[in-house]
Amino acid sequence: MTGEAFFSELASRAVTHEPVRKRVASFVSVDLRLLPRYSREGGFTQPASSRRRPGHAGSWIQRVGAGEPHGTIGRRKSVNVRTFLWFLGQPPLYREMLRRLAWSAVTPRTRRSYRERQKLLSREWCAASVHNPDESSRELGLSGDLPSVAVLHPAAWKNAELAARTCPVRMGGPGAVDLLYHACLHLHAERVVETGVAYGWSSLAILLALEATQQGSLVSIDMPYVLRGNSGQVGCVVPDALRKRWTLVRRPDRDALPKVLQGMTPIDLAHYDSDKSERGRAFGYAMLWSALRPGGWLISDDIHDNLAFRLFSEQVSRKPVVLPGRDGSYVGILKK
Ligand SMILES: C[S@@+](CC[C@H](N)C(=O)[O-])C[C@H]1O[C@@H](n2cnc3c(N)ncnc32)[C@H](O)[C@@H]1O
Repeated sequence: MTGEAFFSELASRAVTHEPVRKRVASFVSVDLRLLPRYSREGGFTQPASSRRRPGHAGSWIQRVGAGEPHGTIGRRKSVNVRTFLWFLGQPPLYREMLRRLAWSAVTPRTRRSYRERQKLLSREWCAASVHNPDESSRELGLSGDLPSVAVLHPAAWKNAELAARTCPVRMGGPGAVDLLYHACLHLHAERVVETGVAYGWSSLAILLALEATQQGSLVSIDMPYVLRGNSGQVGCVVPDALRKRWTLVRRPDRDALPKVLQGMTPIDLAHYDSDKSERGRAFGYAMLWSALRPGGWLISDDIHDNLAFRLFSEQVSRKPVVLPGRDGSYVGILKK
C-alpha cells in the first residue's frame, strides 16, 4: 500500500467510525448531523442540512467573537470541522490543507462589508474600462464577428450540454469559451495552460480549437470543490475523442502550477478561472505571466470579484482589454 493510500484509508476510517465522529462533534461543539458522511463508493457527502447554507460550507473559519477595525473580524477562530475532515480524506490535498490552516491562523478574516466594497470598486473599474466589440477586436487583432463555439461545433456542444445536464453534481459556470476558442486560433496556440476546470467548458473550447488546427496541447489544473464530492465529474463535458491533447492535473494551483510550467514554458495562452481570492489570483497571475511568451495572452474570468486583476495589470504595466462576461461578470485579457 502506498503512503497516500494508507493515509486515505486511515482518514476514511476515522470519519466513518461513529465514536470518533461523536467525540469530534462534541469537542468542537457542532451537531453530529453536520459532519460529512463517507462511503467508499461516493466519497464524502455533505449533509443535507448544511447544503442549504451557501457560503458556510468550505469556509475554514467559523466566525466567533466581536468585530475588529480595518475590515477584519473575529480574533477568536475555530476551524470548520466539516472542511477539516473533508481535507483529511484527501491526501493529495494535505499541503493545501496545511496552507489554509496556516493562513487562517495568521490572517484576520475580513469583514463582509469590506469585501463588498472591494467588489464594488472593482466593478466600477471594470465598467469604466470595458471595451466595445470594435475596440476589443482592434486591440486584440481579432476579426470583428466571431461565431460562437456552439455554432462552429454544434454536435460537440450538444453532447456537452447533455453531459452537464445529466451530471449528478452542480459545478461552477463556464469561462469565456468563445473568446478562448478564437484566442487559440489567433495565437496559433501550441501550449495552453488553464486553472479551474469544473464541468470543463473552457477546456472543451480550447481542445476544439487545438483539434481544428491539429496542433498543440492543453494542461488544465483543478482541485475539486470542498465538500461537494465532484472529483469524479471534473471535466465531464470533454469527450474522449478530444482527450489525447489534454492533461488534467488534479491538484491545487500552488502545488501544480510551478511543476506544470517548468515543463512547458513558454506558453502561448493562459486561462485563469480557479481560486478567485486576491491571494490566489496574485499567485496564479504572476506564475502564468512569467511563463507566457511575448505576445501571449493571459485571460482571466470574473475579474470584478476583487481588485487583484487591476493591481496585477498595473504591476506589469499593461493596459488590459476588459470584456463583459456572463450575468454581469467581466473577463480581462492581458497581452504580454
Ligand atoms: C468556475 S470553475 C471553472 C470553470 C471552467 N473554467 C469552465 O469553463 O467550465 C472553478 C474551478 O476551480 C477549482 N478551484 C478552486 N480553487 C482552486 C485551486 N486553488 N486550485 C485548483 N483549482 C481550484 C474549483 O474547484 C472549480 O472546479
